[in-house]
Amino acid sequence: MDQKHIRNFLIIAHIDHGKSTLADRLLEVTKTVEPRKMREQFLDQMDLERERGITIKMQPVRMKFFDGPKEYVMNLIDTPGHVDFGYEVSRSLAAVEGAILLVDATKGIQAQTVSNAELAMLQGLHIIPVINKIDLPQARTEDISNELAAFLGVPRAFIASVSAKTGEGVGQLLARIPGEIPHPLGKENAPLRALIFDSRYDSYRGVVVYVRVIDGSIKKGERLRFVASGAHGDALEIGVFHPELVPTGSLGAGEIGYIVTGLKDPLLCRVGDTITLSGGAVEALPGYHEPQPVVFASFFPQNADDFPGLADALSKFKLNDAALTFDVTNSDALGRGFRCGFLGTLHMEITLERLRREYGLALVATLPTVKVHAVLKNGKRIVVITPKELPGPEIVEAFYEPWANIEILSVPEDLPAVIRLVQETRAQIDEIKTIASTRVVLKATVPLADIIVDFADRLKSVSRGYASITWEGAGERPGDLVRLDLLVAGEEVEAFSRILPRDRAEFEGRRMVEKLKENLPRQLFAVPIQAAIGGRIVARETLSALRKDVTGYLYGGDYTRKRKLLEKQKRGKKKLKAMGKVNIPQETFLALLKRGE
Ligand code: GTP
Repeated sequence: MDQKHIRNFLIIAHIDHGKSTLADRLLEVTKTVEPRKMREQFLDQMDLERERGITIKMQPVRMKFFDGPKEYVMNLIDTPGHVDFGYEVSRSLAAVEGAILLVDATKGIQAQTVSNAELAMLQGLHIIPVINKIDLPQARTEDISNELAAFLGVPRAFIASVSAKTGEGVGQLLARIPGEIPHPLGKENAPLRALIFDSRYDSYRGVVVYVRVIDGSIKKGERLRFVASGAHGDALEIGVFHPELVPTGSLGAGEIGYIVTGLKDPLLCRVGDTITLSGGAVEALPGYHEPQPVVFASFFPQNADDFPGLADALSKFKLNDAALTFDVTNSDALGRGFRCGFLGTLHMEITLERLRREYGLALVATLPTVKVHAVLKNGKRIVVITPKELPGPEIVEAFYEPWANIEILSVPEDLPAVIRLVQETRAQIDEIKTIASTRVVLKATVPLADIIVDFADRLKSVSRGYASITWEGAGERPGDLVRLDLLVAGEEVEAFSRILPRDRAEFEGRRMVEKLKENLPRQLFAVPIQAAIGGRIVARETLSALRKDVTGYLYGGDYTRKRKLLEKQKRGKKKLKAMGKVNIPQETFLALLKRGE
């Protein structure tokens, strides 16, 4: 196909600004999908996405557009809409020449708008700025258009306005694409280089990779080589997205489509890798790396019989989610489960929610943690993920914990509250600047551990839902870390142990002890609840005994009878106490491990 007639683009937007809805309208206007087949958010496939309105993955689509006699092929691909998938966003951006930057007319520019727009500009993409939801009565189309124009440094007239819901303005927007977004400039006769920007696992056909052919071309039956992983496969089928997969037998420079590889292991064909023909020597496309999990949490089935079901579900998720990791773990209190690694907390929440919904699993999830490194006095370097693995201070030279660069976007009125929230963490504020006169960006560097538990929720609540955050990894720095344990009746409850900065551990210990006291049912004997840092008790509460009136039925009479009964009760309690076991009910675990409290 002549590259001059191809336009490749994506839509970048903050969550909920209407990306999927606009994609649906584009399908309709270009008659890519028959009207009778059209249902709301055609390109969003999973129920969970539909319900929560978060697109986990949107199907790419190839549309035809006629400008008079000229016919164009337009490929629209997805950008994962959330902060945890920064790497995948960057690979999607590398697969196209242009972007529609979509901003909600009731909300204005938000953190993800800024960070994705900056990434798109860095990649040299042509940006078409668009205000969406102009049909809403509370739309501030004029103000937000001015804001967006100022932010991008473009004339106001350049900003399109649409309603992805009613379709208003969508036709005009589409008509701008051929003239504004440049066509691909691949070397048609060079050796094949195709960029993997996404993939799906098909249980019958193995891994199906979604590619942008940069240079050269590929035909069905040719032998493939994956440059970074070194794997080989075969192009069993090649085709394009309508949006369902339609075989074409070949793909040329500038085109976007799919290749059925026959490979069974998704880890051999990762996003960002370059595909070439076997035997050919080409340089890999820039930007490839393997995303590493940075946030960890353990999932335990509430019912032990669900363990195999959980194992099965996680293995299935892994096929389409190379960044997810999991290993079997055991807890005295919670039984067998999995310690899982994620790209961030949203990635974790989505996974948890899908396990609950799609597999009907009732799960207990521990508080998320980060990966810490300990350099020992003997020079060894070890990885610590769970508190149990944290070595004692006597053998440790230094701990290193991950840090993040964060960017919080808010409106000037909310800035003081945002600053207060940031100051509750160990963050260093690097910069506060106003953009487009109505928004403030706060840039800070912060230990990742300080923002993974409930920071995003609290940010929303201090800013009436307006402020938003994006983050990226910023390497490791030394940290003074300790292990905080909770003891119930003198016994450590592993599920409650945490790794914390020393100067916060005591406060947190007191808080957890109080909370545990509130949530633990009373026993027949008094139960001490303690918090300990490295074996030293730093907080203590006593849950008083449940008093059972064993003498109530006695009416008057000899006091010795009453005393005898009380003595018997005392002995019984002593025996119970000697056994020392307090059964902590699952509700108590849930209450303490629940985040956002
Ligand atoms: P993520 O994939 O989570 O980033 O969301 P999204 O950007 O794909 O947003 P989506 O298309 O799911 O739209 C979010 C909500 O806004 C949905 O309830 C849509 O129905 C609604 N919406 C989208 N566009 C418009 C519009 O133009 N007008 C109105 N009134 N509502 C809209």
